[in-house]
Amino acid sequence: MTRAAQPHVAAEDGAVRLAAPVPADAALVTRGLTVSYGEKPAVFSVDATFPGRAMSAIIGPNGAGKSTLLKAALGVIPRLSGDVFVFGQPLEQARHRIAYVPQRASVDWDFPTTVMDVVQMGLYRQAGLLGRLSGAMAEKARDCLRRVGMADFGHRQIGQLSGGQQQRVFLARALAQDADLYLLDEPFAGVDAATERAIVDVLKLLKADGKAVIAVHHDLSTVRGYFDHVFLINVRRIAEGPVASAFTTENLRATYGGRLAATHLDQLAVVAEGA
Ligand SMILES: Nc1ncnc2c1ncn2[C@@H]1O[C@H](COP(=O)(O)OP(=O)(O)OP(=O)(O)O)[C@@H](O)[C@H]1O
Ligand SMILES: [Mg+2]
Repeated sequence: MTRAAQPHVAAEDGAVRLAAPVPADAALVTRGLTVSYGEKPAVFSVDATFPGRAMSAIIGPNGAGKSTLLKAALGVIPRLSGDVFVFGQPLEQARHRIAYVPQRASVDWDFPTTVMDVVQMGLYRQAGLLGRLSGAMAEKARDCLRRVGMADFGHRQIGQLSGGQQQRVFLARALAQDADLYLLDEPFAGVDAATERAIVDVLKLLKADGKAVIAVHHDLSTVRGYFDHVFLINVRRIAEGPVASAFTTENLRATYGGRLAATHLDQLAVVAEGA
């Protein structure tokens, strides 16, 4: 039996418990995941189950641990405790199946590199670290740029693009990786309606192709239109499940608590109308 199929023992608040089983068809599973940058955990004892062949949203207020959850799921920051499984396998065996689009504000755009260079970074694993990128690889990079509507920008410096154009390029880089699980941190932040539509269309095509997409998402009014599944977090897991049952006003209030802003209240009205 693989480790992924076996419930394991995890520690929470000093207590020992049996973790929930790990469904083999889930795209991403965390069990007892705790991540801390200092004394206070940013993500605490989180059990999350994101389905395969679906689009999932991670929702929560600023500082709730959404980006931290994604980074821990990628293995780019260490876990204090807990386990991560990707398509039923321990993360360490399945990292190559994940592509990641980081939160825009977290990337330094001043480095002198072209759009094509950025997209081809997604191809290094396939090319071999010391291997040369072949003509076929360059063609593949161009194809990924076409898919995000950026075919004409290959030679532009990445720093000379608008924010929405940069976002499309980083999505193209993720596409070049031929991953099975796509993790995106606020892909729609600061982009206009046309770019948002273009990105949603690409993500829906990935899903139609059998891939899993998980995106940190702030706009509560579009959750029902874009996503199948939601995960609500505020350091701890608040709720998760299909949008129809888990994306409720009650769960959102529990997630945002006293920090529910007026804009969120407007969006909650939209949620309530849709319910
Ligand atoms: N590198 C770091 N060093 C120390 N603390 C950090 C670091 N990165 C994040 N934090 C802290 O961890 C907590 C969770 O941060 P995280 O970036 O995961 O939140 P988030 O939910 O993605 O928020 P946002 O909606 O603002 O992007 C915050 O309190 C943040 O200040
Ligand atoms: Mg974040």
